[in-house]
Amino acid sequence: MNEEEMKEQAALKNLANYWDGQFAMGSDGNGVVPDDWIAPPQVVCDRIVAAVKRLREGKQFSDMSVLVVGCGTSGLSEALHQKGFGSITSIDISSVAIEEMRLKAAHVGEWVVGDCTKLPTLFEPQTFDLCVEKGTADSLLFRIPKALRFAAIEKYFNGVFRITKQDCVFCIASPRRKFPLSRKSDWGTAWSWEKSSVASSDMKIVGEKRDTAYLHVLTKNQP
Ligand SMILES: C[S@@+](CC[C@H](N)C(=O)[O-])C[C@H]1O[C@@H](n2cnc3c(N)ncnc32)[C@H](O)[C@@H]1O
Repeated sequence: MNEEEMKEQAALKNLANYWDGQFAMGSDGNGVVPDDWIAPPQVVCDRIVAAVKRLREGKQFSDMSVLVVGCGTSGLSEALHQKGFGSITSIDISSVAIEEMRLKAAHVGEWVVGDCTKLPTLFEPQTFDLCVEKGTADSLLFRIPKALRFAAIEKYFNGVFRITKQDCVFCIASPRRKFPLSRKSDWGTAWSWEKSSVASSDMKIVGEKRDTAYLHVLTKNQP
């Protein structure tokens, strides 16, 4: 392992410890550690469902496999399950969050402890039809040292590209209108990105003053 990789490993370990600490505090009902960040799960789920119906008309939800990245203790996986998606895998870097969800919502699907910057080591290529997240890319961008942020976000997004099918839909709910990617990134040509497709007052950022969030909807361009 070179020096850069060692720094990256240390940063990811700190990240896991940070989130384990957050989830270990538990939700006290006063918003110290919310079950859901960014926006209520049902609101985001409905927007995702609308995007999938529009972009993949005629496709049966029951035939679709879904990956929820950085699920935390959010109700988003459960909300998607209730919409009838065929299989749902939810991953998070925090083993505390995953343990809680395995106890609380085992019926929803698989709950996996995993790092979203290493997705190709966890899943086979072209496994998922739909990948969703709420606040995960966002948290990568402010919870790890500045020098490593671009690399982390690119590894995450490139990993999603690899483990999803050609006709997958990738939805990111975030307070950010844009995601900074390095100039070298091939994101501009690999994906079509409906920027800021949703900016609505019904997507509240839990625990923060801002009341606007966005749903970014990405589809792969033809090779
Ligand atoms: C702002 S919270 C959002 C949690 C949940 N998605 C929600 O909407 O409430 C960010 C989540 O991303 C997870 N996370 C952060 N870095 C991660 C990584 N490298 N791999 C997987 N999950 C990560 C955290 O553990 C945490 O659950």
